[in-house]
Amino acid sequence: MAEKIAFIGLGQGLGRSVLKFLAAETTARSIFVLQRKEPLDLPDGALMTTHWQKCDLSQSDSLSTAATALKEWQPERLWFFAGGGPYGEFQNKKWSAHEWALQVGLLGLMKLSHDLLSQNVLKQMIVTGSLIADDRDPWASSYSASKAGLAAWVKSLQGESPNFDARLFRPTYFSGGLLPSPSLPERLQLVQRPDGLGQNFVRWALNPLFHSTNFALS
Ligand SMILES: NC(=O)c1ccc[n+]([C@@H]2O[C@H](COP(=O)([O-])OP(=O)(O)OC[C@H]3O[C@@H](n4cnc5c(N)ncnc54)[C@H](OP(=O)(O)O)[C@@H]3O)[C@@H](O)[C@H]2O)c1
Repeated sequence: MAEKIAFIGLGQGLGRSVLKFLAAETTARSIFVLQRKEPLDLPDGALMTTHWQKCDLSQSDSLSTAATALKEWQPERLWFFAGGGPYGEFQNKKWSAHEWALQVGLLGLMKLSHDLLSQNVLKQMIVTGSLIADDRDPWASSYSASKAGLAAWVKSLQGESPNFDARLFRPTYFSGGLLPSPSLPERLQLVQRPDGLGQNFVRWALNPLFHSTNFALS
C-alpha cells in the first residue's frame, strides 16, 4: 500500500522542493496537495502519484470542503507549508490583512487537523515555522504571530500526545514565494536555495528517530 501524505500549501519554494525530492525516492507514496491555486507541473515519481484539491485557508467554505476531503482521504502524514501576511508597520496595515495572516498561517491548519486527529489515522504532522520570525521580524508582525502560535500549539500537542508525531520545522531565509526579490537578505547573500532544504526536510521527516522533535536550520 502506498503511504499517504497530505501537503497543505505547496508553492514554489520549500513545499515544491520537498515534493521533488520525494518523487526521486523508491517508496510507493500517494500525495494529496491542498492548495489555493492548482499547481503547475506536479511531479510524479516512478512510485509516487499526486493529486490536487482546492483549499483556500482564508475562506470558510473552501476550508470546510477541504476538511471533508481530507477526512475521506485519511492521510498518514500531514505536512504544512502555507503562510504569509502583510509587510509593513502593524498599525498601517489593514486589520483584515492581519486576520488573513492568522487564518492562513495558523487557524486554518488547526481546524483541518482538529477534524482529522479525532479519526486516529494521522500518525504525523509537521508544520513550517520560521527561525527569522521567532527571533524578531519587523514589519511582519501578524506573520510572526502566526509562526509563534504554530510553535506553541505543536509543543502543546507534543506534551499532550507523546505517541503522535507532531514536529516543528524552522528554516532561515531561502528563495521561495514569500521572499520578495530583491530582498535585503538576498542582497546580503543570506538566502539559501530550497533544494538542499527539501532534502533535509524529507530525511528528517521520514526518520522515526526524530519522533516529536523540532528542527531548526540556519
Ligand atoms: N522563504 C523564506 O525565506 C522562509 C523562511 C522561513 C520560513 N518560511 C516558511 O516556509 C513556508 C514556505 O514558504 P515559501 O517561501 O516556499 O513560499 P511559497 O512557495 O509562496 O509558499 C507559501 C504557500 O502558502 C500558500 N498560501 C498562501 N495563501 C494561502 C491561502 N489563502 N490558502 C491556502 N494556501 C495559501 C501558497 O499557495 P499559492 O501558491 O496558491 O499562493 C503557497 O503554497 C511558509 O510557511 C513560510 O512561512 C519561508
